[in-house]
Amino acid sequence: MANNIRPETMERITTPALAEAFIQEQVAEIRRQVGDKRVLLALSGGVDSSVVAALLIRAIGRQLVCVHVNHGLLRKGEPEQVVKVFRDEMNANLIYVDAVDRFLDKLAGVSDPETKRKIIGAEFIRVFEEEARKLEGISFLAQGTIYPDILESDGVKAHHNVGGLPEDLQFELVEPVRLLYKDEVRVVGKALGLPDNMVFRQPFPGPGLGVRCLGAITRDRLEAVRESDAILREEFAKNGLEGKVWQYFTAIPDLKSVGVRQGKRADEWCVIIRAVNTKDAMTATVENVPFDLLQHITARITAEVKGVNRVLFDLTPKPTGTIEWE
Ligand code: XMP
Repeated sequence: MANNIRPETMERITTPALAEAFIQEQVAEIRRQVGDKRVLLALSGGVDSSVVAALLIRAIGRQLVCVHVNHGLLRKGEPEQVVKVFRDEMNANLIYVDAVDRFLDKLAGVSDPETKRKIIGAEFIRVFEEEARKLEGISFLAQGTIYPDILESDGVKAHHNVGGLPEDLQFELVEPVRLLYKDEVRVVGKALGLPDNMVFRQPFPGPGLGVRCLGAITRDRLEAVRESDAILREEFAKNGLEGKVWQYFTAIPDLKSVGVRQGKRADEWCVIIRAVNTKDAMTATVENVPFDLLQHITARITAEVKGVNRVLFDLTPKPTGTIEWE
């Protein structure tokens, strides 16, 4: 049984040298635990699973099998980056699963937020399970469990909303960052050579853009929220707000209003910008985004994103709002 209690004497990993020492120690530990067996990992491209992947690649190379499930609800460029970083640059044994149609078909017409979350979580497990069954000789399952997951929810990654694999697919766990806090995971990720935009990524919900495409998800609104989010992130990066604002994104309600396009009245969608700061996500304040930047982002979104004629900025702190819209 793995030790799941962080010793009080454990030094906080704050420097590249401390990260390197941790990496050496874990590489030896992983090799000892795994031997010549194969390890499976669901690689979302989030900070935790990416750091675990890089650590395991360092330790056991292609004995690690990564499965990246593209459920169609990731941000623009994310699935491509996972393939580029892990398969092309780190020579990872990576299975890329294009499950976009499968997820969107299951979600078609479903507007209740909790039902949407459950469908996304359950379908994720199903796709991962199918891939796991195709593989031979897997003995271990690697997970990006971090210390707050253990403290908050008995070691289950609460925000994954995914339930678990069936009884006959239970593997021994490999959880090399289970005693680390998030900031330490980032320092280790940086020392492992992962790109900054992966390591210092803002929080992103497990159900992804599914909680930001409000009501029943349609492909046109999903693309609109993905494209507008990419513009927002690009502009925040250009204007020094990346890494400064805790979380920022766009959401798209299931709402059309009349506007004017090429001299004619036209009903189109609106997009909401959310930019908040918080310590623990229990309460949040709204970032004071410069008005001219908001105007510039609005001009870009209404010009570049198909079917969007209005952009709104959410001024509501938490409470009374939540951070996400759904
Ligand atoms: P709220 O909207 O509750 O969000 O103020 C607080 C933080 O949690 C994230 N969040 C989620 N993360 N699955 C997740 O993995 C979810 O269903 C979910 N809903 C909210 C949100 O992005 C914010 O950082």
